[in-house]
Amino acid sequence: MAANKKLLMLPGDGIGPEVMGEVKRVIGWMDKRRTVSFDIQEELVGGSCYDANGVSITDETVADAMSVDAVLLGAVGGPKWDNVAREHRPEAGLLRLRKEMDLFANLRPALVFDALAEASSLKLDLVKGLDMLIIRELTSGVYFGQPRGIEELPDGSRRALDTQLYTDAEVQRVARVAFELARKRSNKVTSVEKANVMETGVFWRQEVTKVHEADYKDVELGHMYADNCAMQLVRYPKQFDVIVTDNLFGDILSDCAAMLTGSLGMLPSASLGAPDESGRRKAMYEPVHGSAPDIAGQEKANPLAMILSYAMMLRYSFDLDEDADLVEAAVKNVLASGLRTGDIMQPGMTAVSTEAMGKAVTAELDKLAA
Ligand code: IPM
Ligand code: MG
Repeated sequence: MAANKKLLMLPGDGIGPEVMGEVKRVIGWMDKRRTVSFDIQEELVGGSCYDANGVSITDETVADAMSVDAVLLGAVGGPKWDNVAREHRPEAGLLRLRKEMDLFANLRPALVFDALAEASSLKLDLVKGLDMLIIRELTSGVYFGQPRGIEELPDGSRRALDTQLYTDAEVQRVARVAFELARKRSNKVTSVEKANVMETGVFWRQEVTKVHEADYKDVELGHMYADNCAMQLVRYPKQFDVIVTDNLFGDILSDCAAMLTGSLGMLPSASLGAPDESGRRKAMYEPVHGSAPDIAGQEKANPLAMILSYAMMLRYSFDLDEDADLVEAAVKNVLASGLRTGDIMQPGMTAVSTEAMGKAVTAELDKLAA
């Protein structure tokens, strides 16, 4: 067995610690099976870190995140911190991690498990078998563009400003990730922007097209305006294979895609940096759902998006495809057996707690590995 992998766990706020608890259960199972072992370090992020340290992430934790093999993050935020200054808000800790680790490619797969197809708000035949991947640019665009701010003008009126900004290199590198991943899937990329209104949209389309022409002519490429994409996602989602889009549109469209799968509680994500000389990528894995403060601490949260994020980590950071397949198969079987947390509850199914769902996953792993 290879040397232990270093993992930084950041459970965060709200339901974060509960869903992370179930990942620990799965890690414990993997550890016993000894295919993969982790040295785990756990730290605070978000509001819980602000309460303890006055900042939503400490410099030490950022440094740790830069040096470990992978970061697993739960969720950040909650109404408790609504009035905290923006640079100290829970979200700021998460954004700082994404930026400093340069995690520019955010992979958000929307996969509909057969057992959950009826839990989708869309008709069964529209979503059954859906398997698409949104790639969201994560370190630039309006989330980080300068200048930004709210200012008072000499006449006493106020104005606010955000800057949507992309460089050619930023668009090209995320486009490459999209084309590479499409080649391993159905070989189709839809690039999404607002070229009809925004300069950055025109530019995005030009740069994606350049990369396509130069290196990926074998991949089918289409362009779509973001508003149309939102509409197409609920009209006929199976037309999509890989969507590549900017930071803000990606944020919005991935929430929409998440609901196609039945619940935000089902969607994992991987955020990847560029490979270094040794081929290693900085990486962070987190569920797409938020901290759900309304149900926090009640054992109601769905831990599956967090567990599936862990499976993505096995796949993308450690090339442990077999183990990732195993975890995903266990999740699939648990759903097929009828167990449901509140967010995916349907008539005739069995309601279970966060912990019971996690235990069912490891019980299923036992069966699969037997
Ligand atoms: C997401 C979240 C974050 C974002 C928040 C928590 C800052 O909505 O990861 O989609 O807007 O990127
Ligand atoms: Mg979001």
